[in-house]
Amino acid sequence: MADADEFEGAGDFARDVRAGLAQAQKVIPARWLYDRRGSEIFEAITDLADYYPTRTEVAILVDFAGDVADAVGPGRAVIEFGSGSSTKTPLLLRAVAPAAYVPVDISGAFLRASAGALAADFPGLAVHPVEGDFTRRFALPALGAPWLGFFPGSTIGNLTPAAAVDLLRGWGGLLGAGSWLLIGFDLAKDSGVLEAAYDDSEGVTAAFNLNLLARINRELAGTVRLSDFRHLALWNAAASRVEMHLEALRDTAFEAAGQRFSMRAGETIHTENSHKWTLDAVRLMGRAAGWTPVTSREDAQGWFSLQLWRRDAGGMQP
Ligand code: TRP
Repeated sequence: MADADEFEGAGDFARDVRAGLAQAQKVIPARWLYDRRGSEIFEAITDLADYYPTRTEVAILVDFAGDVADAVGPGRAVIEFGSGSSTKTPLLLRAVAPAAYVPVDISGAFLRASAGALAADFPGLAVHPVEGDFTRRFALPALGAPWLGFFPGSTIGNLTPAAAVDLLRGWGGLLGAGSWLLIGFDLAKDSGVLEAAYDDSEGVTAAFNLNLLARINRELAGTVRLSDFRHLALWNAAASRVEMHLEALRDTAFEAAGQRFSMRAGETIHTENSHKWTLDAVRLMGRAAGWTPVTSREDAQGWFSLQLWRRDAGGMQP
């Protein structure tokens, strides 16, 4: 067995895995799903017939980008949180004629490849990739242009409502008065549609979730038998969220990051939440975080909302 001390310097992943697997309800923070392999599988999810959010949001953005440009004006520095492959970005950049583009992503290799491809498509645009976890503090490049934040994909729904408000409030402080935020929210809908989106018939979402166990084996000298686990997506109505878990199919034991863990059949590791909102809840959350919801666009089915929020000086109103 690998010595636990060996992983002392291995950093946050080892720490999060050790701490999360020691809890009664085992949990591993979702950021660890996105290594290079995970980021690639996630891109495949966004193309799936069962995964409606991406194509729905892209269609809204095509329709809404002109209004966004009119509201925010040219010459903004666009910062995209969790930029991934930056596939939605050109639609926004073409409309708003920005001064600069700052993609922020946790997967460095993936970020650099995407940023390079985007820079080639927009000659003359200053592109400043920032490798990092957007839920933590990071320094912004000083670009001297007012900011437009871009946070598509309903990634905000991967946080609990309280954490989402904290994050959005933090970005208000980071981007400052006079900044704008264009942010996507997935709306509550039929649970059958949701469960298919998070447990697709082609098994891509299952592969994405199971890659976390493969990553533990790769990076933390893990001995997890992937065939002892399956992907599980559950609609939690009380919390209005889809929960992703890795469920043990039989009693199993393994090593990871220098420690031994065992799980009973049916026990799960909770890996992600995806909250679904009402439009009222979305606007309330924006206000609670110190932003002013100015305008929005939804698709005809009311499945997804792109919201444009402004950060006013002075914060809260009476
Ligand atoms: N932001 C995406 C969402 O909530 C993330 C996501 C999609 C995801 N499918 C997933 C996360 C499956 C974990 C597992 O829709």
